[in-house]
Amino acid sequence: ARHIALIPAAGVGARMAANSPKQYLHIAGKPMLRHALDAFLASPLIAHTYVVVSPDDGWIDGVIPEHGVTVLRCGGATRMESILNGLHALQDVLQGVDQILVHDAARPGLTPALIAKLIAEVGQHPAGGLLGLPVVDTVKRAGQGNVSAATVPRDGLWLAQTPQMFSYALLRRALSEARDPAAITDDASAIEALGLSPKLVEGHPRNLKVTLPRDIQTAEMYLAHPDF
Ligand code: CTP
Ligand code: MG
Repeated sequence: ARHIALIPAAGVGARMAANSPKQYLHIAGKPMLRHALDAFLASPLIAHTYVVVSPDDGWIDGVIPEHGVTVLRCGGATRMESILNGLHALQDVLQGVDQILVHDAARPGLTPALIAKLIAEVGQHPAGGLLGLPVVDTVKRAGQGNVSAATVPRDGLWLAQTPQMFSYALLRRALSEARDPAAITDDASAIEALGLSPKLVEGHPRNLKVTLPRDIQTAEMYLAHPDF
């Protein structure tokens, strides 16, 4: 089966509150989205890369490289909708068995090595898999008024990253059948709702999601140190 990258990049970046959607902010010399694209372009394992942007996006043209990336102007109101619209748009191009690596445009620290690790460790796992990080901090459940009401055992807790990899057929079915779109903040959660358990593969802190203004500096630090 081929491995295809699908990058949802139709968000507005409300929490970043910048002048443009955060995926277009320049960081370490190029737009954030371009860092993610370049990781997939540099991977010999990825057959093609697709980017989903908003229909009225006015920034994407200056960001895509000349070869290897196709833009789909079918972004929706939520991340899940953007991905599902992209999968529908590709139904004549992709086959059910093609493996789709969904990756946030807002994770510029991805590397070809992490892509290769995900593909190798998920292998033929029928429920696919995702990068993530085991939780290392002590986890608290807050009660009314931000008091520490309980300690949640961190054993077995992971933070989800992307890419998340599933066959085209499985991902499309899972997202189409999702009952509570607001609860679907990543692709693996839709797969879990089908009763399946995607494989967890240890990622890396450099693959952080840039969400708040302070994350820009952290991402720049990692991007300045490719081996870090
Ligand atoms: N995304 C998308 N379509 C949407 C919402 C989000 O394609 N309607 C994409 C974003 O562009 C991003 C990824 O999903 O690459 C992860 O979403 P998030 O980090 O939440 O980005 P935003 O939704 O843009 O940020 P915010 O939630 O702060 O508005
Ligand atoms: Mg969002």
